[in-house]
Amino acid sequence: MNDDIVSRLTDINNRLGFIPRTEVEALAKELKLPPAKVFGAATFYSMFKTQPRGKHIVRFCEDAPCHVAGGRVVFDAIRAALKLEPGQTSADGKWTFEMTSCLGVCGVGPVMMVDDAVYGNLTPEKVEEILDTVEQPVNQ
Ligand code: FES
Repeated sequence: MNDDIVSRLTDINNRLGFIPRTEVEALAKELKLPPAKVFGAATFYSMFKTQPRGKHIVRFCEDAPCHVAGGRVVFDAIRAALKLEPGQTSADGKWTFEMTSCLGVCGVGPVMMVDDAVYGNLTPEKVEEILDTVEQPVNQ
Protein backbone atom coordinates (compact mmCIF):
# COMPACT_ATOMS: atom_id res chain seq x y z
CA MET A 1 0.00 0.00 0.00
CA ASN A 2 2.80 2.44 0.90
CA ASP A 3 4.52 1.74 -2.42
CA ASP A 4 1.30 2.70 -4.17
CA ILE A 5 1.08 5.99 -2.26
CA VAL A 6 4.72 6.84 -2.94
CA SER A 7 4.38 5.95 -6.61
CA ARG A 8 1.30 8.12 -7.02
CA LEU A 9 2.82 11.00 -5.06
CA THR A 10 5.91 10.78 -7.25
CA ASP A 11 3.75 11.13 -10.35
CA ILE A 12 1.99 14.20 -8.92
CA ASN A 13 5.24 15.78 -7.76
CA ASN A 14 6.86 15.23 -11.17
CA ARG A 15 3.84 16.57 -13.04
CA LEU A 16 3.19 19.69 -10.95
CA GLY A 17 6.53 20.30 -9.23
CA PHE A 18 4.86 19.91 -5.85
CA ILE A 19 1.93 18.13 -4.21
CA PRO A 20 -1.02 20.46 -3.59
CA ARG A 21 -3.45 19.71 -0.78
CA THR A 22 -6.25 19.15 -3.33
CA GLU A 23 -4.21 16.34 -4.91
CA VAL A 24 -3.59 14.77 -1.49
CA GLU A 25 -7.31 14.77 -0.81
CA ALA A 26 -8.19 13.36 -4.25
CA LEU A 27 -5.60 10.59 -3.91
CA ALA A 28 -6.80 9.72 -0.41
CA LYS A 29 -10.36 9.45 -1.67
CA GLU A 30 -9.31 7.28 -4.61
CA LEU A 31 -7.22 4.96 -2.42
CA LYS A 32 -9.87 4.96 0.33
CA LEU A 33 -7.37 6.19 2.91
CA PRO A 34 -7.49 8.99 5.47
CA PRO A 35 -6.07 12.20 3.96
CA ALA A 36 -3.70 12.43 6.95
CA LYS A 37 -2.04 9.17 5.89
CA VAL A 38 -1.40 10.44 2.36
CA PHE A 39 -0.32 13.86 3.63
CA GLY A 40 2.02 12.11 6.07
CA ALA A 41 3.73 10.32 3.19
CA ALA A 42 3.92 13.56 1.18
CA THR A 43 5.72 15.33 4.04
CA PHE A 44 7.87 12.38 5.17
CA TYR A 45 9.96 12.01 2.02
CA SER A 46 12.28 14.92 1.27
CA MET A 47 11.93 14.34 -2.48
CA PHE A 48 8.33 15.55 -2.25
CA LYS A 49 7.42 19.21 -1.92
CA THR A 50 4.07 20.38 -0.60
CA GLN A 51 4.56 24.03 -1.58
CA PRO A 52 5.08 25.52 -5.04
CA ARG A 53 8.74 25.99 -5.91
CA GLY A 54 10.55 28.50 -8.02
CA LYS A 55 11.66 28.03 -11.60
CA HIS A 56 15.26 27.92 -10.33
CA ILE A 57 16.35 26.15 -7.16
CA VAL A 58 19.38 27.52 -5.31
CA ARG A 59 20.78 25.07 -2.77
CA PHE A 60 23.50 26.11 -0.35
CA CYS A 61 25.64 23.52 1.45
CA GLU A 62 25.32 24.01 5.18
CA ASP A 63 27.77 21.35 6.38
CA ALA A 64 30.90 22.06 8.41
CA PRO A 65 33.62 21.88 5.71
CA CYS A 66 31.83 24.52 3.65
CA HIS A 67 31.12 26.56 6.75
CA VAL A 68 34.78 26.75 7.82
CA ALA A 69 35.79 27.61 4.24
CA GLY A 70 33.85 30.88 4.50
CA GLY A 71 30.31 29.67 4.05
CA ARG A 72 28.72 32.25 6.32
CA VAL A 73 29.52 35.28 4.15
CA VAL A 74 28.50 33.34 1.04
CA PHE A 75 25.24 32.34 2.71
CA ASP A 76 24.58 35.99 3.55
CA ALA A 77 25.35 36.98 -0.05
CA ILE A 78 22.85 34.45 -1.42
CA ARG A 79 20.17 35.62 1.01
CA ALA A 80 20.80 39.25 0.03
CA ALA A 81 20.88 38.56 -3.72
CA LEU A 82 17.70 36.53 -3.71
CA LYS A 83 16.01 38.49 -0.90
CA LEU A 84 14.93 35.13 0.49
CA GLU A 85 15.47 33.06 3.60
CA PRO A 86 16.06 29.29 3.31
CA GLY A 87 12.82 27.51 2.47
CA GLN A 88 11.28 30.52 0.74
CA THR A 89 10.24 31.05 -2.86
CA SER A 90 10.24 34.48 -4.48
CA ALA A 91 6.87 36.10 -5.16
CA ASP A 92 7.55 36.08 -8.91
CA GLY A 93 8.14 32.32 -8.81
CA LYS A 94 11.67 32.60 -10.18
CA TRP A 95 13.72 31.43 -7.18
CA THR A 96 13.55 28.96 -4.35
CA PHE A 97 16.32 29.04 -1.76
CA GLU A 98 17.13 25.85 0.15
CA MET A 99 19.83 24.52 2.41
CA THR A 100 21.37 21.15 1.67
CA SER A 101 23.75 18.68 3.23
CA CYS A 102 27.18 17.95 1.77
CA LEU A 103 27.21 17.86 -2.02
CA GLY A 104 30.38 15.76 -2.08
CA VAL A 105 32.73 18.46 -3.29
CA CYS A 106 33.95 19.73 0.09
CA GLY A 107 37.43 20.48 -1.30
CA VAL A 108 36.01 23.43 -3.22
CA GLY A 109 33.75 24.82 -0.50
CA PRO A 110 31.77 26.93 0.00
CA VAL A 111 29.46 25.31 -2.51
CA MET A 112 26.01 25.95 -3.96
CA MET A 113 23.89 24.39 -6.66
CA VAL A 114 21.73 26.36 -9.05
CA ASP A 115 19.35 23.84 -10.57
CA ASP A 116 21.67 20.99 -11.69
CA ALA A 117 24.92 22.99 -11.78
CA VAL A 118 27.39 22.92 -8.87
CA TYR A 119 29.53 26.00 -8.10
CA GLY A 120 32.51 25.92 -5.74
CA ASN A 121 35.14 28.22 -4.26
CA LEU A 122 32.36 30.75 -3.83
CA THR A 123 32.77 34.31 -2.69
CA PRO A 124 30.01 36.89 -2.32
CA GLU A 125 31.11 38.42 -5.65
CA LYS A 126 30.94 35.07 -7.45
CA VAL A 127 27.45 34.45 -6.08
CA GLU A 128 26.18 37.64 -7.69
CA GLU A 129 27.90 36.85 -11.00
CA ILE A 130 26.46 33.34 -11.10
CA LEU A 131 22.93 34.37 -10.21
CA ASP A 132 23.08 37.20 -12.76
CA THR A 133 23.88 34.72 -15.54
CA VAL A 134 20.84 32.53 -14.89
CA GLU A 135 18.42 32.99 -17.78
CA GLN A 136 20.72 35.32 -19.72
CA PRO A 137 20.68 34.75 -23.49
CA VAL A 138 23.69 32.65 -24.61
CA ASN A 139 24.95 35.23 -27.17
CA GLN A 140 24.99 38.20 -24.86
S1 FES B 1 30.51 20.08 3.14
FE1 FES B 1 29.85 21.34 1.52
S2 FES B 1 30.19 20.10 -0.22
FE2 FES B 1 30.78 18.84 1.43
